[in-house]
Amino acid sequence: MTTRPDDQLRRMLEQTLIPPTTVTELDPDTIDSTTSRVGSVAGSLAESYQLNSQHTLASYTRLPDDDTRSTVRKFYFETTLNAFNRLHEQETRWTLHASELPARLQQLLSPMWSNPAVVDSLYALDVLVLIDGALWRCVPGAPGFLLEKSWESAHQSKLQAAVPDQDLRASDGLIFVVGHLARSSYLSGDRAVRSVGLTAGVLTGAIFAAGAHPAVAIGVRIIENFIDATANQVLGCDGVERSLVAVLNLAAAPQPGPPPSAPAPAASVPASPPTPSPVAAEAKADPETGAVPGSHQPGPVAGRSAEALEVAAQFDGLTASDRMAVNEALAATADVLELGLPATLQRVTHRIFERSVQEFFTAEQGSTQLPDELVHFTRPDGAGIPLPEVSDVPEATLAEALQLRRSVRSYENIPMELDELAGLLRLAAGSTGTEDGYGVRGMPKFPYPSIGGLDSNELGLIISRVEGVVPGYYGYDKVGHALVPRLRGDLRLSLVTATFESEWLFYAPVVLALVNDQKKVNWKYKTRGYRISHLDQGALMQNLGLVAAALGLGSCAVAGYFDEVLNRILGYEGQDAFVAALMAVGRPNRLSHGG
Ligand SMILES: Cc1cc2nc3c(=O)[nH]c(=O)nc-3n(C[C@H](O)[C@H](O)[C@H](O)COP(=O)(O)O)c2cc1C
Repeated sequence: MTTRPDDQLRRMLEQTLIPPTTVTELDPDTIDSTTSRVGSVAGSLAESYQLNSQHTLASYTRLPDDDTRSTVRKFYFETTLNAFNRLHEQETRWTLHASELPARLQQLLSPMWSNPAVVDSLYALDVLVLIDGALWRCVPGAPGFLLEKSWESAHQSKLQAAVPDQDLRASDGLIFVVGHLARSSYLSGDRAVRSVGLTAGVLTGAIFAAGAHPAVAIGVRIIENFIDATANQVLGCDGVERSLVAVLNLAAAPQPGPPPSAPAPAASVPASPPTPSPVAAEAKADPETGAVPGSHQPGPVAGRSAEALEVAAQFDGLTASDRMAVNEALAATADVLELGLPATLQRVTHRIFERSVQEFFTAEQGSTQLPDELVHFTRPDGAGIPLPEVSDVPEATLAEALQLRRSVRSYENIPMELDELAGLLRLAAGSTGTEDGYGVRGMPKFPYPSIGGLDSNELGLIISRVEGVVPGYYGYDKVGHALVPRLRGDLRLSLVTATFESEWLFYAPVVLALVNDQKKVNWKYKTRGYRISHLDQGALMQNLGLVAAALGLGSCAVAGYFDEVLNRILGYEGQDAFVAALMAVGRPNRLSHGG
C-alpha cells in the first residue's frame, strides 16, 4: 500500500471526506435524477457496483418469499449439521469438537453456535479457523468444525504474500471470514455481496465482543485489505462463488496465574465429544504455520485409544501433516484390530485407503480449475525428436491381439525399427484428440482410460537399440508424438543392477518405464489418488501389450526392481513421481518362441 505525506493526505481529505460545516439541503429534483440513473454512472467500480446491485421492482418481486427463504436456510443448516454428526460419530479425522480447543479459543468462537444472529449469518459465510496446522470450517449452530484443508508452512508463506504490509508471524491465530456468494445469491439475488458484507459485520462484531470478555482477553484485528487472488488461492476459494471478505488476526493477552472462569457456551452438543486433550495451550502461534496452538491433533487418536496416544506422543517435532499421517496409520491399525484380524501392513494400508474415500468426498474443492502448474501435460513438450506417423495400422484384430499377447522375455538380437517403436507409442499411448475440461481448453484424450481424465501416466523409454536413435533415456511426448531426450548413454547395466531376476532385460532393445505422476490425481483425489492412479498404469500397460502383440512385437511387464535405485537412475524423486512398472519390448526370438 502506498503512503503519502501527512499534509498531502490532509489536503485530500479536506477536499473529499470532511463534512461541510454548513448544511445545504439538496433540491428534491437533484435527488430524484441521481437515484434514477441506475447503471449509468461513469464513476468508480464501487459506484457502479452500488448502482448495479440495486433492486428494481422486477428483481425485488423475483426474490424468494419468506417461507422459501427459511426452508433454504434450514436445509443448509441441517445438512451441514448432519454431515458433521455423521462424521463425528465415525470418529474420522474430518471433524473437530469445540471441547478439544483451548478454553479461550472456545469462548472466542462460541458465538458461532450460541448467538442466533451469528448462527444466521453463517448461511452467507464460511468461517475458517486455523487450528493446529489445519483449516477448520465452523458448523453453523453447533460447537464443531469440519476439516477444510491442512495448512503447511507453504500456505502460511503464501498468505503472508497476500498481506505484504502485515507481519503474520506475531499472530496468535487467524480466522478467515469467507463470503459464500453462491448461497447468498440464492436468497438475495444481485444484492448478494451486500448481504455477505452485512452478515460478516454481524459475525465480526460478535467475535470482538467475545474476545473482550476478561476471561478470554483475545484482541481481534480486522484485515480487510489483501491481494484477493493470492489469499483466495491459498484458502482454496475460487474468488467468485467463495471469496475472502476479512481476516481476523488474533492477539491473546498473556494471562498470568489460573485463568478466571469463563462463561459456559450455551449450546446443544451435536455428538458426544471425544476425550478432551489434556494439554493446555496458551502459548504463542507456531512461527511456521501461524496456527493457534492447541491441544488438538487432527485425527481420531484422541477418541480412539490411550495406547495410540502413547505411540503418537513418542514422535517429537512432527508437523501437523506428519501427525495426520501417523494418526491415520494408527487409526487404520486400530480398525483392523477391532475386526479381530492380525494387523498386517497390507491390511493397514488397505484400510488407510478405504478411510481416505471420506477425505475426497468431504473436502471442499475450492475450484475445479486445474492449477496452472499442472496444465503443462496438455501441451506438446516442444523439445522432442519428432517420431514418424503411423503408416501401416496393424492388420490383427483386437480378438487376435488378445489371443496373441503373452509375456516375452527373449528377443531377437537386432535393433528395433523406428517405425515399429513409433507405431507402438502412437497407437497405445498417443493423444487421440482434445476436449475442454477442468477450466482448460484442449485437454488431451488418450487411448486408455485414466482416473478423472487426469492421466497420471508418464511414459519413459530406456532405448538401447533402436535404428537411428542414440541410446539413452527418453520421455514420450504423448501430445506431440516425439521422443524427449532425458539421459544419454547405454543404461543396460544400470538397469540390470536395479532389477532382480531379470537379466534378460539386458537384451531388450527398449524397456518402457510406466511412471506414475501423482501431482494431478492428488490435487483432485487427495490420499486416495495414490491408490487409484496405479490403475492408469495398468490400463496403459494393457494397451502397450496388445498393440505390441498386434505389431508382432513381444513384451513383458517387470515389477521386480529396487524402487529407490531405479528412480534415482532415471531421475525421479520417488514420491510424487516414480516408476510404477517397467515393460520390455522387442521382436520375439523365434528360436525360443517357436517361430
Ligand atoms: C504388474 C506386473 C508385473 C510383472 N512383473 C514381472 C517381473 O518382474 N518379472 C517377470 O519376469 N514377469 C513379470 N510379469 C509378467 C507375468 O509374470 C506374466 O504376465 C504372467 O506370468 C502371465 O503370463 P502371460 O503374460 O504370458 O500371460 C509381470 C506382470 C504384471 C502384470
